[in-house]
Amino acid sequence: MLDMEKIVSLCKRRGYIYPSSEIYGGLNSCYDYGPLGAELKRKLKEFWWKSMTQKHDNIEGLDSSILMHPRIWEASGHIQNFSDPLVDCKSCKARFREDKLEPGTKVCPNCKKGELTEARQFNLMFKTFMGPVEDTANVIYLRPETAQGIYVNYQNVMTTSRQKLPFGIAQIGKAFRNEITPGNFIFRTREFEQMEMQYFVKPGQDDEAMISWKEERREWYKKLGITESKMRFHEHKDKELAHYAKKAYDIEYEFPFGWSELEGIHNRTDFDLKRHQEFSGKNLQYFEEATKEKFIPYIIETSAGCDRTMLCILADAYFEDTANERTVLKLAPFIAPIQVAIMPLTKKDGLPEIAETILKDLRQQYSVTQDDSGSIGKRYRRQDEVGTPFCITIDYDTKADNTVTIRERDSMEQKRIPISELKAYVEPYLRYPID
Ligand code: GAP
Repeated sequence: MLDMEKIVSLCKRRGYIYPSSEIYGGLNSCYDYGPLGAELKRKLKEFWWKSMTQKHDNIEGLDSSILMHPRIWEASGHIQNFSDPLVDCKSCKARFREDKLEPGTKVCPNCKKGELTEARQFNLMFKTFMGPVEDTANVIYLRPETAQGIYVNYQNVMTTSRQKLPFGIAQIGKAFRNEITPGNFIFRTREFEQMEMQYFVKPGQDDEAMISWKEERREWYKKLGITESKMRFHEHKDKELAHYAKKAYDIEYEFPFGWSELEGIHNRTDFDLKRHQEFSGKNLQYFEEATKEKFIPYIIETSAGCDRTMLCILADAYFEDTANERTVLKLAPFIAPIQVAIMPLTKKDGLPEIAETILKDLRQQYSVTQDDSGSIGKRYRRQDEVGTPFCITIDYDTKADNTVTIRERDSMEQKRIPISELKAYVEPYLRYPID
């Protein structure tokens, strides 16, 4: 089993992910994405966004605000139900989620002697105040999911984009949960990003839509290059179902610490829209022209965690190639933060100038870097470790015949090709696979 520490260390060393506020000693469970991490995350989100809005004529995008009317969280049930059972150790004061402990645990798993308190419900929403007066009338919440911003805009989006059922709304954005036990690097944090799509359907067509989205989401992870045998569906049993769900599946991934949830696919029925209709007093029914029927649509939700997917991508890509004494990040080429590294063999005789011309041309479309320090072997190893799928070497033959060597990261295979064919060569690997 892969050691998480190896991923954490590579992320720090190579500029993927740093502990947040590091010079002040860090802040528990908060992380910052460095240059390569920010680029990988940007491409991941772009792939998701294109796979939703560009691929589907009936899915529209949205970017709603993080702060929303507090009544929204009453209507959604989050104020009443969005809590975890918290227990404390009376001796060492460690805190645990009771539902994550072995049933019947009475003694603290941390200090092994302290008695645990009775469980009490702890609401996970972060509270703050709107405006300068800090009183109960001004309490506002940081959203714990992006979904509610979609529900309260469903009619706006439907009308302005002239959509009819079935149609979807996609949104990427930050969510906040005051988790009792964050951990496992970026797997469970208190601030994270979600990629959520809510698909509105006529009641009765929900089961079919759920099956279809389950399959489509599994295929999406396959396109991301995630190993198929490390993914599985987990169906929620009655006790696990969230307060809004009729049926729910998790897409799970086998992380270095075991099988855990990557994405939730939920049949939320008409629960949310009905509640918003009740709490806002606005009519949220859909009018079906063909049948002259009025009804509240059902919602199928696909809810992915961006940071969790980042961890999944990094863990899945990490490979120690002992035979070749190298560590490789086998990232899908289209999401690699550096897609092409251009390496002039020497820093003289016009080779850097040729590299510069190729770089300027390729960077119109792709993420390209010039790497000209150290031996070629060392440069290849460096690029392998950050996941660069292609390295292009410019040597003295390039000056004579306008050809370069292109080396592929995983196979280490090298080919000689004309500079004029470079773009066409890399294009099929580097475009987003949204067809
Ligand atoms: N709108 C439905 C919803 O939020 P969820 O199962 O609570 O459902 C969806 O969350 C996804 O958000 C999870 O599958 C996970 O990828 C991500 N997520 C949830 N809590 C998280 C946390 N504390 N840290 C990182 N990602 C989290």
